[in-house]
Parts: sequence; C-alpha cells; structure tokens
Amino acid sequence: MKKSLGSMPAVFPMPVLMVAAYDADGTPQAMNAAWGTICGMDKVALCIDEDHATTKAVRASGAFTVALADEAHMAEADYLGIATGNKLADKFAKSGLTETRAEAVNAPVIDQFPVTLVCELAEVVQTDHLHAVVGTIVDVLAEEDVLSEEGKIDPAKLGAIIFDQFQSGYYATGAKVGQAWNAGKELVLAAKA
Ligand SMILES: Cc1cc2nc3c(=O)[nH]c(=O)nc-3n(C[C@H](O)[C@H](O)[C@H](O)COP(=O)(O)O)c2cc1C
Repeated sequence: MKKSLGSMPAVFPMPVLMVAAYDADGTPQAMNAAWGTICGMDKVALCIDEDHATTKAVRASGAFTVALADEAHMAEADYLGIATGNKLADKFAKSGLTETRAEAVNAPVIDQFPVTLVCELAEVVQTDHLHAVVGTIVDVLAEEDVLSEEGKIDPAKLGAIIFDQFQSGYYATGAKVGQAWNAGKELVLAAKA
C-alpha cells in the first residue's frame, strides 16, 4: 500500500558537488550543490541561487569548477554548504582546503577532492522556475589513485558521498551491483522472442 507524501523533491541519490569560482577580487568562493547534473556530453547544469557568493563569482569570472565530494572531506564539504562568502570574507580559507588555479580556465581547483570538472560558463538560464548555470566541461582532473588500470575513474576507489534530501543524510558509495546496458539484456531478448 503506497502512502501519499505530498509534493517534495523526492529524487535520490543526489550528488554532493563542490562548485568553486574566483570572485572579482580573485578570492576563491565555493559552495555545496546537490541540484546539479550532466545535461550533455560536455555540459553540466547547476541549479544554484543567484544570490550565493559562489554564483556571483561564476557569473563574474565566466568559469568554474565542480568537484565530487568524498567521504574523507565530508566536514569541509558540508561547511561549504553552511557558511556563506557573502558574510565571511575568508570562507574558503577557513575551510582548511587549498586551491590551485586551473590551467584551462580562470577558476580554482580544490586540491583535496579527487575528481574535478573544469568548466567555462556557457549559459545562465533564468526563468520563473529556474536559475541555472550551464558549464562547458573543458577538462576533467582526477587523482591517479582513483583511476582503474585502464585509466578510467573508478567509483569503487573514489569514496564519493551522495546526499539524501529526505532526511539530509550523506551516504557512502562504492559497491558495484551491475553493469548498465547489460543487466537488462535477458529481458530485451525475451521481449523480442
Ligand atoms: C547538502 C547541501 C546541498 C546544497 N545544494 C544546493 C543547491 O543545489 N543549490 C543551491 O543554490 N544551494 C545549495 N546548498 C546551499 C549552499 O551551499 C549554501 O547556501 C552556501 O552557504 C552558499 O555559499 P556561498 O554564498 O558562499 O556561495 C546546499 C547546501 C548543502 C549543505
């Protein structure tokens, strides 16, 4: 028996994305964003409020990075989602994290997170229901220790965390349970029979 829970953003899992950009003074701004996704082979879209210090930095600099938060840096990731650069001038420095300017664009790469998408701002989409920044992914930086022998990012090594918007939990990832475009093969064959 299903129970009606009313309207809510009931999608799970959500990513824990660390969005970072330099503001007009060159200070790194960074925030936690769960409402983000891939929207093209080289595009990422982030639904982030236009008033966030990080959003203003993205719009001012025309570039940003998106890192995948890992379990080892969960406290820092959460801090970036609580504190705001609008009130705390040295928010990023106070996180204890460090950054290095990306080679490809003028945006900070947070040193401690294992995987980072390096993006140029492609578009800001603003409608009655949406404020989103869309980035063109010009490069992806990954620590060698999260790569498989074939050089691909290995989720089992990444330690990425995911966000639950039902109870505001962070969850671990890692256990592989199947292979996409394969787990349903038997059903595809049976459907054709
Ligand atoms: C788990 C988590 C997920 C969040 N996801 C988003 C999001 O998707 N979009 C958004 O605008 N704010 C999101 N926030 C809130 C911002 O990270 C927060 O307001 C932050 O203080 C903004 O920092 P800034 O003003 O320094 O840029 C999230 C916060 C947390 C803790």
